[in-house]
Amino acid sequence: MQPFVVQHPLAQCHLSVIRAAGTPSHDFRRHLNHLARLLFLEATRELPLREISVQTPLRQTLGAQLARPLVFVPILRAGLGLLDGILPLVPEAVVAHVGIKRNEETALPHAYYANLPACISGADVFLLDPMLATGGSACEAARQLKEAGAMRITMLCVVSCPEGLAAMKHAHPDVPVFTTAIDDGLNEKCYIVPGLGDAGDRYFGT
Ligand code: PRP
Ligand code: URA
Repeated sequence: MQPFVVQHPLAQCHLSVIRAAGTPSHDFRRHLNHLARLLFLEATRELPLREISVQTPLRQTLGAQLARPLVFVPILRAGLGLLDGILPLVPEAVVAHVGIKRNEETALPHAYYANLPACISGADVFLLDPMLATGGSACEAARQLKEAGAMRITMLCVVSCPEGLAAMKHAHPDVPVFTTAIDDGLNEKCYIVPGLGDAGDRYFGT
């Protein structure tokens, strides 16, 4: 499955703000939240609906509701920046969490927390992380989601690179990836270049 690159002009504008080294955390947050919404709108275009009947003040008409529940899974910490953007669009969504931290020397993922509900198996699951670098964190998170029963997983990431996309395609070819950028690649510390630096630190101001 090929990555879906959201090239909406607004996405490119928000992305440029969060890439800039001088953008303070409060602006970084706002623009990352906007990017999350733009990604989510593209990724949910094909969600199945169930027809319902709606009584307006004037007459009965046909309406729609989502056919299946949604589960949002931010990878802690930086995935919370995408969750903040999209949860107001679907406030009834279930929020599950996966905690994964890269080892700073090896860049290998260390999984330290998971809270995945049983309802995940019948849901449309959105895995959230702004960065797909080596792909280690996303691959491990998707593995945990499948182990917990998830059958329909979509990944949203703001900045990706060929290495991370290849890793996801290899380990989870059934998980579509929606991104706003495929950057050049990784540097010697496994940071995405040009990238935006450490997304978690920039979002939380740490
Ligand atoms: C960052 C990012 C991803 C991961 C991407 O998180 O938010 O989860 O790195 O790198 P990978 O594709 O090489 O695994 P980090 O481990 O820095 O944790 P944090 O969000 O707590 O800062
Ligand atoms: N994690 C980040 O936050 N940024 C990168 O470029 C790579 C991993």
